[in-house]
Amino acid sequence: MSMKSLLQWGLAIVCGLLLASSDVHAQMAFQPRPANGLALTPPMGWNSWNKFGCNISEATLRAQADALVSTGMRDAGYVYLVVDDCWHGARDAHGDIQPDPVRFPSGIKALADYVHGKGLKFGIYSDAGAGTCQDKPGSRGHEFQDAAQYARWGADYLKYDWCNAEDLNARSSYATMSDAIRATGRPMVLSICEWGLHQPAKWGAAVGGNLWRTTFDIWDHWSGRGNKGLWLGVTDIIDLQPGLESAAGPGHWNDPDMLEVGNGGMSDTEYRSHFALWAMLAAPLIAGNDLTQMSRETLAILTAPEIIAIDQDKLGVQGRRVVKSDGQEVWIRPLSDGATAVLFLNRAETAVKMDQDLVLLGFPANGEWKVRDAWRRKNMPRVKSKLSVQVPAHGTQVFVLKSI
Ligand code: GLA
Repeated sequence: MSMKSLLQWGLAIVCGLLLASSDVHAQMAFQPRPANGLALTPPMGWNSWNKFGCNISEATLRAQADALVSTGMRDAGYVYLVVDDCWHGARDAHGDIQPDPVRFPSGIKALADYVHGKGLKFGIYSDAGAGTCQDKPGSRGHEFQDAAQYARWGADYLKYDWCNAEDLNARSSYATMSDAIRATGRPMVLSICEWGLHQPAKWGAAVGGNLWRTTFDIWDHWSGRGNKGLWLGVTDIIDLQPGLESAAGPGHWNDPDMLEVGNGGMSDTEYRSHFALWAMLAAPLIAGNDLTQMSRETLAILTAPEIIAIDQDKLGVQGRRVVKSDGQEVWIRPLSDGATAVLFLNRAETAVKMDQDLVLLGFPANGEWKVRDAWRRKNMPRVKSKLSVQVPAHGTQVFVLKSI
């Protein structure tokens, strides 16, 4: 063999070995984390951000905990009380994160104890970067230390944000915090708040996440964007959900962001649509209004039992949009008892009558269906092949159809 062909062979072998080892490396590099067994239905609770932003204190949060109980929200399923950004003070001499001493003079453990004493669970917030979105200390480089602190305080839930993290790998960062939580031995729901930037629907469950945001932040508007396109109205958010359905299931959910119901920027009809669409999406239901001051209608929306039952259905299949035309849409979601939830949405500015051929939605021909109106909690006349329904402007109608 000539010197040249020897060299060529040698080069080919080295390249082959390198390629093989990088393949092995790619396979070895990421190990899926085991599921933590939490959030077998989408988490329900209340979070401080949408209403209070940074204007929080232990008094505010205790009042919301009290209201979760006195309004019946806890008993309707809203069990997590989550303190969002701005609870932080500085790190102490050991690097342990401490709360803002003015806003939380009794400390976070006392607040968590109070929340637990109400039969609720306590959630806290941090960020994968060195600073949070409001420039409070983030967990970068302190992941295990912070998780241990949250566990000592009695946290049951961590919302983990993505500000100041541009140079980090999203999947690895969330896997690190997931490992840190697991190392504490205390079960905590892991809420991935990465805004859908690096397709968390593809890896959120594998890192041990229980929910992951699919978009940037909601704002209290029916449609349209704010803050240079970063804030999204309800209809802007729902348009970004189709295609993500297969990632959702018991223990791991797409999160189209927290609820704005009751915050004043939309009509009650629009809030009903927001809430019902979230239920069809098997979305976490995290209320974000001031529970101490809500109207009867806001409470009625947030506690509508048959809409919540759709959201919390244990089959855990996320609903799909099956019709979209001229501002009218139909979404369907299969339920665990063999029934199907059907939502009619009218985005137009005037009421419309929608006539829907059920076979076109995938229902078998020649069937007959019992129809339950999930908002009004009333049985409707049975239907065979067609459902006709009047839908107000920006409104929804939600029915549960069961074969006879
Ligand atoms: C980001 C998140 C919000 C909220 C704020 C807090 O914008 O997406 O949900 O947590 O940070 O600063």
